[in-house]
Amino acid sequence: MRHTRIIVTFYGGPDALQVVEEECPEPKHGEVRVRVLAAGVSLPDLMAREGIHPETPSVPFTPGWDLVGVVDRLGDGVSGIEPGQIVAAMPISGAYAEFVCLRQRELVPVPAGLDAAEAVSLVLNYITAYQMLHRSAKVSPGQRVLIHGAAGGVGTALLQLGRLAGLEMYGTCSSRGTSAVSDLGGIPIDYQQQDFVKEIHDLTSQGVDVVFDSVGGTHIWRSRKALRPGGRVVAYGLTSSLRGGRLASGASGGRHRFRRIAIFGLYIAGGWLLPGRKRVVPYSIQWLKRLRPAFFRQDLIALFDLLHQQKIKPIIAQRFPLAEARHAHEVLGKGGVTGKIVLVPNEPSLGSGAV
Ligand SMILES: NC(=O)c1ccc[n+]([C@@H]2O[C@H](COP(=O)([O-])OP(=O)(O)OC[C@H]3O[C@@H](n4cnc5c(N)ncnc54)[C@H](OP(=O)(O)O)[C@@H]3O)[C@@H](O)[C@H]2O)c1
Repeated sequence: MRHTRIIVTFYGGPDALQVVEEECPEPKHGEVRVRVLAAGVSLPDLMAREGIHPETPSVPFTPGWDLVGVVDRLGDGVSGIEPGQIVAAMPISGAYAEFVCLRQRELVPVPAGLDAAEAVSLVLNYITAYQMLHRSAKVSPGQRVLIHGAAGGVGTALLQLGRLAGLEMYGTCSSRGTSAVSDLGGIPIDYQQQDFVKEIHDLTSQGVDVVFDSVGGTHIWRSRKALRPGGRVVAYGLTSSLRGGRLASGASGGRHRFRRIAIFGLYIAGGWLLPGRKRVVPYSIQWLKRLRPAFFRQDLIALFDLLHQQKIKPIIAQRFPLAEARHAHEVLGKGGVTGKIVLVPNEPSLGSGAV
């Protein structure tokens, strides 16, 4: 049987993505073959395509952090799982494909009746948001938080989960995202027209308890200025390394996985050295998953439960067929996207056969 997958052929722009057709992969010992129903498209995918994300594989590689799919075939030594079951996983790369083979222990069961695109949004974006809120910042009801990039994939997840946690929320976004931010319970601050540090101090007098900073670089220090004494910045992204979906520096063509992470580390350390009892803490979903895999599984199951109870509702910006991955990257790179872009390689919705 043949299938389609997307490969990054060189580090660069969206034209680095190519569609290939080849024999379906066969599951090895301990592996399960999954027919992909939905694969998330996120800024970390664009950064890997450009060769700057710390998790960038060597070329050629198939991008795609997260997926939801149907168990299709079991390798030797696999038990306790049946073909037809719906599962989710975060392979970090490889999800832009019709079929993928994954180790059984990577799979998390998905409850019946969920939409595949909504379910996949929980894997990277909502786990990131949930763990930053409840494991890094340990927020409590009534606290004030500032969410940067609040109309984006992780940003909208932070707003929905923050509202459930009873937080007072402020969110930076461009003018295209202001209505989405207020609909989700945040007070929008247009980062292109307003100085967010000044706005936060005008609106709260003392500053906020926590800032979630996805922008990175010197922005982390500005975020620190929006804190009340004793507050903390959770630094988790490097959105500033891209402009229009391409490298902000203009340089291109190589794999520089650790350069930006080293600079990121310097800014975090710098934040600790400044006076004012304000902390800057880094967050990484992949490192927390490697160090504490049980948290990942536990948090994803809790999030599926919230989705099943309709307490959260991921915003799906657009669904693209797998062969249009390049277009999906162009759209995300251009900016102004509210919520999550999803590739739907096979059926778009989860029906019967869920576990
Ligand atoms: N550490 C982790 O474990 C982890 C996990 C997931 C994601 N991330 C990181 O999180 C970040 C967001 O990812 P995503 O997939 O949610 O991206 P996304 O959907 O593209 O959202 C990014 C948002 O940031 C906004 N933005 C851009 N520049 C900004 C600025 N200077 N100030 C405020 N907002 C700004 C954009 O708004 P406009 O387009 O309207 O300008 C967009 O809404 C990325 O840096 C990604 O690498 C980290």
